Amino acid sequence: MVLITVLTPGINQPLFFLRGAASTYACGVHQNGLLCHLHWGNSIAPNASLAGRLDKDVLAFSPEHRRPQPAVGKSGHDVLSYEYPVANTGDFREPALDILHADGTHGLRLLYSAHRVIAGKPALTGLPATYAETAAEAETLEIDLRDARESSAGGGLIVTLSYTVFAGRDVIVRSTRITNHGTAPVTLTRALSASVDLPGNRFDLLTLPGAWARERWVERGPLRSGTQFTGSRRGASSHQDHPFFALLAPTAGETQGEVRGFSLVYSGNHQGGAEVDQMFNTRALLGIHPDGFTWHLAPGETFQTPEVVLAYSQAGLGGLSAQYHRLYRERLVRGVWRDRERPILINNWEATYFDFTADKLAAIAKSAGAIGVELFVLDDGWFGRRNDDTSSLGDWFTDAAKLPAGLGDVGHRIQAEGLRFGLWFEPEMISTESDLYRAHPDWCLHIPGRARTEGRNQLVLDFSRPEVVDAVYAMVAKILREAPIGYVKWDMNRHLTEVGSASLPAERQGEVFHRHILGVYAFAERLVTEFPEILVEGCSGGGGRYDPGMLYYTPQVWCSDNTDAIARLRIQHGTSIVYPPCTMGAHVSAVPNHQLHRTTPLRTRGHVALAGQFGFELDLIDLDATDLAEAKDLTALAKRTRHLLRSGDHHRLLDPNTGNVAAWMLVAPDQGEAMVTAVLALAEPNWRLQPLRLRGLDPKALYRGVHGPAGEWTGDVLMELGLPLTALKQDFQSCLWHLRRV
Ligand code: DGJ
Repeated sequence: MVLITVLTPGINQPLFFLRGAASTYACGVHQNGLLCHLHWGNSIAPNASLAGRLDKDVLAFSPEHRRPQPAVGKSGHDVLSYEYPVANTGDFREPALDILHADGTHGLRLLYSAHRVIAGKPALTGLPATYAETAAEAETLEIDLRDARESSAGGGLIVTLSYTVFAGRDVIVRSTRITNHGTAPVTLTRALSASVDLPGNRFDLLTLPGAWARERWVERGPLRSGTQFTGSRRGASSHQDHPFFALLAPTAGETQGEVRGFSLVYSGNHQGGAEVDQMFNTRALLGIHPDGFTWHLAPGETFQTPEVVLAYSQAGLGGLSAQYHRLYRERLVRGVWRDRERPILINNWEATYFDFTADKLAAIAKSAGAIGVELFVLDDGWFGRRNDDTSSLGDWFTDAAKLPAGLGDVGHRIQAEGLRFGLWFEPEMISTESDLYRAHPDWCLHIPGRARTEGRNQLVLDFSRPEVVDAVYAMVAKILREAPIGYVKWDMNRHLTEVGSASLPAERQGEVFHRHILGVYAFAERLVTEFPEILVEGCSGGGGRYDPGMLYYTPQVWCSDNTDAIARLRIQHGTSIVYPPCTMGAHVSAVPNHQLHRTTPLRTRGHVALAGQFGFELDLIDLDATDLAEAKDLTALAKRTRHLLRSGDHHRLLDPNTGNVAAWMLVAPDQGEAMVTAVLALAEPNWRLQPLRLRGLDPKALYRGVHGPAGEWTGDVLMELGLPLTALKQDFQSCLWHLRRV
């Protein structure tokens, strides 16, 4: 990692080069003072003569910039490649920033004013972010741009662009701060985190859209002229639209080709995508969705955007995923659980739903303990008077009718079976049928005079209000202090409507979406600070808030409410584009499956769950002796292989979207061990599956199958000729190999 600034000859303006392991990001100050983009891609050497490349000729119908002396002529606003494009200056493409001034006009013109280089990576106040553990592992460049308006006319804005480059990685982390140094308040009407102007339009856009129970399916298609955006206005990153996209060379595949990724470290509304302009160049942008967003910035105040992680790879989508996996596993997830192997758990949700007693829970724990499970999670239904989903959210005290001896008693009975105890919460929600709602009907998000739209019979608490966050935290923390709890499942089961806050003035109502998420983060920060030993698993009706923002607080996330092994293949495949398998909660559930009514073999359900943090979501008492023995074997296998999940490199081998077999593998960092899984969705008549070619092994090493079909193979044979898939013959069959270097 090196970061160099060179001065442009003649005009003494800086050029900036941020150098990753095998990539370079470069930008520089145009002779007219605008900060322009130069390059993001393969490594190039810092070179002052590249300053000339910042300039672009004027076009017909393009507003002009007169070039200062000594240069002559003009450059076109509408064609320059900007680092952070703004509205109403003659660049008619999608802006990253727009501001409404006190005089009712909008827009700004940003000119370079200063820069500095900081060792390490400064934290973002109130926001989750990637981090550097030492000053030596990252460098941050900050560039100040100032609004060129005269201060007598309301100028005085400074926009600071932040770029962090990490040693040995090909990621650039960008965010933006906007500070009002003027004398009048202004209103931000859009403030995206980052924008990159790339030459040409020959890109495929890859996104991860979905829905409840089918999150993050991969979609890919060529860019067209105009804008192509993905975005959430739901107040959450959501099942439907994911805060990530990639731009791929059309020929790029899983293992080859140039790919650029854009991932937003944020859990609320987002918008991202690309615009292809009239000259067939591409602008990529990502940040908080401008719809429903305004921010009142009084003199002296600063607005901080969330950060975007830009990743670059010439080794295809697999290479891009490897960049994200390593960074998110090592420098986004934090706390003691970052480096610990996670417990094998059993969750009672699909076993009992709301209908349980302490005896029933203890019986499930006993049967789970007998096969080696380490943690029992009591899901929804233990609090208030909650026997279905119509009541009690917000009443975080034990349901005395259901659990008369209290939660502490349940916890101790679970512990007596040799398991740790985990508990479900949904802190951001309130049922109208609750003590909390009766006491504080104005604590939910609402707009006076409008009906309060319910989702799953519940309303959303107004976490933009610190007193609401405090009150809910006090209830949750009391439970965690009193009962022997080692794990929390943090759920969130509806999206935001009637987004208004009873505590904010009119000019700040546009801030509620973002302030709400800041409140969620403040709650999370308190939780992980007071209870550092508790493992927190994120959840939102499955994977509706599986994003880098939440991963900063919750090292693993329940990947989907869809526990069908075959449906999970596409969900887990799409999730792995950005997120390492160690962050993915995956459980074996009962058959017929509760979401799809499909029956698959227990072994296949287990092999698919072993792709993530392994657990069970069923009543083991219902299993026959054969399946129980299989469940015990799977649990033992999960324990033998979970170190691979923690630190191994993940490879997608066969894509369930394009064939009837899905396959993936994890390889230990020293290449001494690997776990390979293949699942056949539907068998075909008179068909022979091709051998499965592996990746990432030591070609010279001899590997022995210590689990799965027996055999010994050299790494080169496994990678060039492949593993035979002859065992896969029937629908829903799977095969898992655990390979060890001999
Ligand atoms: C949705 C979650 O995804 C489920 O796992 C379960 O916790 C239910 N909520 C409980 O209401």
